[in-house]
Amino acid sequence: FKKLTDLELAGKKVLIRVDMNVPVKDGVIGDDTRIRASLPSISHALAAGAGVILMTHLGRPTEGTIAEEDRLAPVARRLGELLGRDVPVIADWVGHTVQAGELVLLENVRTNVGEKKNADALGQQYAALCDVFVNDAFGTAHRAEASTHAVARFAPVACAGILLAAELDALGRALAQPKRPLVAIVAGSKVSTKLTILESLADKVDQLIVGGGIANTFLLAEGKQIGKSLAEADLVDQARAVIAKIRARGGDVPLPVDVVVGQKFDPAEPAVTKPLAAVTDSDMIFDIGPDSAAQLAAVVAQAGTIVWNGPVGVFEFDQFGKGTETLARAIAASPGFSIAGGGDTLAAVAKYGITEQVGYISTGGGAFLEFLEGKTLPAVAMLEQRA
Ligand code: 3PG
Repeated sequence: FKKLTDLELAGKKVLIRVDMNVPVKDGVIGDDTRIRASLPSISHALAAGAGVILMTHLGRPTEGTIAEEDRLAPVARRLGELLGRDVPVIADWVGHTVQAGELVLLENVRTNVGEKKNADALGQQYAALCDVFVNDAFGTAHRAEASTHAVARFAPVACAGILLAAELDALGRALAQPKRPLVAIVAGSKVSTKLTILESLADKVDQLIVGGGIANTFLLAEGKQIGKSLAEADLVDQARAVIAKIRARGGDVPLPVDVVVGQKFDPAEPAVTKPLAAVTDSDMIFDIGPDSAAQLAAVVAQAGTIVWNGPVGVFEFDQFGKGTETLARAIAASPGFSIAGGGDTLAAVAKYGITEQVGYISTGGGAFLEFLEGKTLPAVAMLEQRA
């Protein structure tokens, strides 16, 4: 696909689809990472002499209506602070035009009728605003919507922004031609929501580290006692197949040898560490134990590439966070190239203060997961089609 940085932009009207879908509560932005991540493309286009129109979604409003909490005012305010200039929000945007050096933000695209359905008519209206359409919304690249897909079909020129290109480059480096050993950490409560990822990674990784409910299901598949722990007994065959596939290629799925258990899911629940073999019928596994954490840390220390999605324990409760913390510190210290993505994972990265040490932190949630599944991201496919 074409890249923003390769184009001549002076005097052009540039429409940039960004993903500024940030958490907003009572008009206050909780985490502005996605806004900051969009700045390089915006600054590049303005410095090159373009007039810039931005568009993003926020939340999941009903099309054709606009409630106060759907409005982009807080996003525009934060963006304005970061850029040191005013960023007007344009509600009545059809046919809007910008001069060189101007910067505006269109109101929440998900309030436009036809956005979710990827309507041609809406895509044409967006496209008519610009000479160049730039997709810089990696976080929304797994959605074919009018502002990510149809617009790219109808715009005179369609290209990838700096963030989108960087995300695809980092993910490609991690998965297409990884420096080996390639270690993936896939954790979370359910195998069912990440089965496609596990199956896709089974063909690629040298070591697969599983955690949380996913690890429990894998332990069950290996005939271990997991007490009352969260698991999906109906998926043990799939778990077994993933393990077999990786072992057949000379790799491994190192499972916990010790665990930290509780009797109920509660922030004040005392943590009890025990060997896996000592787990009783009433135990619930909430974290990996110190021996397991040390083993996994050693795996991570040897890695050429690390892909991390999901905490290995209930790290929101400190007493069940040691496994995730040990692993996080091992990732930070590993000479391997690491990439982390997904909401819970980024919360763990922030909690243990390793942001600077992770090789690449993805802004994608669903998009990051779909990339790991090996799926083609539709918004990217459209850019490729246009090139
Ligand atoms: C995200 O937060 O993952 C993206 O912005 C996409 O949002 P969506 O899941 O509402 O499409």
